[in-house]
Amino acid sequence: MPGKGCIVVAARNGVDCAILNLQGRVYMPQTDCPFRKADDLIQTLPASAKVRLVDFHAELTSEKMAMGWYLDGRVSAVLGTHTHIPTADTRILTNGTAYQTDVGMTGPYNSVIGVEKSIVLQRFLTQLPVRMEAARHGAELHAVIVEVDESTGRANSIRRFTAT
Ligand SMILES: [Fe+2]
Repeated sequence: MPGKGCIVVAARNGVDCAILNLQGRVYMPQTDCPFRKADDLIQTLPASAKVRLVDFHAELTSEKMAMGWYLDGRVSAVLGTHTHIPTADTRILTNGTAYQTDVGMTGPYNSVIGVEKSIVLQRFLTQLPVRMEAARHGAELHAVIVEVDESTGRANSIRRFTAT
């Protein structure tokens, strides 16, 4: 895949934070194995980057949950993206990794995952191709807030955050 897949940036408090982007393979374009890629990327991280956030862009809940357990204790958080629907399984896994299957989208919720409702309904009803357009109403922000112990990289807490 093109690109680097991870970056280390200094947070406002000066703590190094690693951000890793992985993509699932179930019901998605075929890519490198995200599990093996996670192993490779983690090995490249400097020792200073104990705070590690994984954005796992994937369709399937089970693939995301598997990734959470696969990386439990090796990263601070595994957060799913792509489905646009926030899930209610916010938790800290056994070895200290914060987890949520999908953090949801920031965008118009008066829609079908961000797209104008009438367009999506037309597609489902007719099975004909349509041009997708973003909906214009119901903007909401969905996110999670993770508190991490910077000396160990373990998550102390994770909670959902919503602004409507
Ligand atoms: Fe996506």
